[in-house]
This record gives sequence, structure tokens and C-alpha cells, in this order.
Amino acid sequence: MNSTTGGLYQAFAEREARGNSASYQELAERVAEDAGLRALLDGLPAAKRQPNLLFSAVRHLGGPVKDGYPAFRDWTVAHWDEVAATTLERRTQTNEAGRCATLLPLLAALPQPLALIEVGASAGLCLYPDRYRYQYVGEVEGSAEEFGAEGSPVTLECAVRGPVPLWDRLPEVVWRAGIDLNPLDVRDEEDMRWLESLVWPEQTHRLERLRGAVQVARAEPPYLVRGDLNATVRELVAQVPAGATPVVFHSAVLAYLSPEAREEFAATMRGLPGHWISNEALSVLPVVERRLPRPAPAGSGLFALALDERPVAFTGPHGQSLDWFEPLDEFRPHDGFEPLDGFGPRDGFGPLERSGA
Ligand SMILES: C[S@@+](CC[C@H](N)C(=O)[O-])C[C@H]1O[C@@H](n2cnc3c(N)ncnc32)[C@H](O)[C@@H]1O
Repeated sequence: MNSTTGGLYQAFAEREARGNSASYQELAERVAEDAGLRALLDGLPAAKRQPNLLFSAVRHLGGPVKDGYPAFRDWTVAHWDEVAATTLERRTQTNEAGRCATLLPLLAALPQPLALIEVGASAGLCLYPDRYRYQYVGEVEGSAEEFGAEGSPVTLECAVRGPVPLWDRLPEVVWRAGIDLNPLDVRDEEDMRWLESLVWPEQTHRLERLRGAVQVARAEPPYLVRGDLNATVRELVAQVPAGATPVVFHSAVLAYLSPEAREEFAATMRGLPGHWISNEALSVLPVVERRLPRPAPAGSGLFALALDERPVAFTGPHGQSLDWFEPLDEFRPHDGFEPLDGFGPRDGFGPLERSGA
């Protein structure tokens, strides 16, 4: 067995698919043992052999991923040239609007109005936190709160723990832009079909959310720039309209960069005006990781949410949970925002300022 490709599929089956997708778990386990399919995969560049990319490519082309391994294997081998071409053309670049639920408390607390810049934006669906509805569910029974944009086709659910500061108004976004190595266009049917192919088969709630968020973004397609985030972020911040607070943010992006490129980005962000919100796997930003007040449960897959490198919460990787660390006394939303009952601090709010910015 080719230990590299076989090991990759075995690890994916055990660490990622187990508990999330029975069909992908089975496919990955069987590919790991299948010398013939592994030989085909080994003909691709190493970065293109990922299980998620293979399974998404097969789905995108209309192949079966839920009918058991023999059907998947026969179809994939028979259509290998098309499958290989799709893996070479496409990337694993899911776009999860659900993450807006974990970004919202920070966004609402910053001096308004905001100019949002998302690095690693994919199709830009996280650039519309003011166009979705939110349902935050506390640990105490009956402590759910729902609010957000009237008539939005998307309601983002999020389980909250700790003193999360929730406000009963949405942030005011006056400008939004994104950067991606390969921006996806919400107006392009093929791009959107690819995003749908990236959602795992059993995660039908994510598919519905994706379709709703695409509808929201199509009403006012985002300004997305093609490029590397390190090469491009400064020029986008320079375009922020006067009077708006620049907020650069990212979720599930920096893991794709080398440690040196991540440090370069952090150094750039420390020198730019405005605020920096990161929402990444725990070890991705060493400064944030060092400052965590407590360890995350082992194997939880949680992200760390941080404002200007100060960790504020653990978050579910798709925005499904928010575990806030501490009430932040100086965490002060601008005038006119009211915290929701049962969540967060109540009194003495003024604008949150970033020291040195
Ligand atoms: C897993 S997706 C996450 C997309 C989005 N942030 C979200 O939360 O749904 C990661 C995205 O980062 C982009 N990306 C990776 N490295 C990048 C880089 N160096 N510069 C710009 N974008 C990058 C990928 O193309 C991809 O669209």
C-alpha cells in the first residue's frame, strides 16, 4: 500500500469523516485499501490527492458517492480523465456563512459603521453578517434569542456558553470587499455548483444555508479581488471609505499558508489601522494560542476567535458554537446598542478603541 496516499485517506476517514459523514468515511477507508485507485491518485500532484477534493470532484461531475464503494469506484475509474481535470482546476474552498454567527458579537461591538475586508473570502458569503438572521441558544433552557435582518432567507443557529456579548442590532456595514487566490462568483452557476459539491452529503442543513446565503449575496455581489492575502491586504485597507472602521477578518484560511507567510500577515496586520478578527484552528496563530486562557477539549476541532490577537472565545468550526471566555469590561459597543437580556454585559458602554491604532 502507498503509505502516503493510503495514510491520507485513512486519517481523513478516522479524524474528519467519522461522526460527520458515514458515506465519506466508507469511501475513504476503502480508497486507503485500493491499490488501483491509489495509483491513479498518485499520478496527481500531492496537493490534489486530498479526499475531500476527490469526492467533491466526483459529485460535481454527477458520480455516485452515497451508493457504496463499488459504484463509486467503477464510476470514478471510468471517468478518471474528467475527475483528474476537475481536481486540477478546482480547490477545496468551502464558504460557510454560518461563521458569521461567531463573528457577529465582535463586529457589533466595534465603532460603527464598518468596512469589512475578508481575506480568503471564497465567494464572499461571510461578508454579509448584516443580511442574515441569528438564533443564539444559551445553556439555560429558554435562553434562546433570535434577531437579525427582516425577511432574510438564512437563519444561523449558534449554541453559546459564557458571557457572550450579544446586541439587539446588527452591525452597520458601509463597505465590503474580499481577497482570494481563486474568488468564486455567486453569479456563476458552475462556481456555485462547485461550492455545493464541497458540502458533505449528509450535511443537508449546510446545503440549505449555502443556497440561502448565495441568494443574499446575489442581491449585491461582493467586490472580490484575486490575489494572495499578503500581497493584497494593504491596498484594500487603503480603499476603505473615510469615516468607516476597517475590519480585516478571516476564518479557516491561514492554515493554508506556511508559518512564515502567517507571520508576515500578522506583522502586516499589527501595522494597519482598524481591527483584525481571526477565527482559525488553535495552533495556526501562535500568539493567539499562547494567550488562550484555557485549553480546548482534546480533539474538539474548535477554532480560536481573537480580536487584535486577543483570544475571546472558542468557536465551532462552522459557526455552530461560541464559548466566550470572559466579560470584557472595556468591550464597549458604540452608542445605541443594547445587549440582549441574559447575555453579556449591561452598563456603561462607550466605543471600543484599539490601543495604538
Ligand atoms: C476553507 S476556505 C474558507 C472560506 C471563508 N473564509 C469561509 O469562512 O467560509 C479558505 C479560502 O482561503 C483561500 N486562500 C488560501 N490561501 C490564500 C492566500 N494565500 N491568499 C488568499 N486566499 C487564500 C482559498 O482559496 C479558500 O477560498
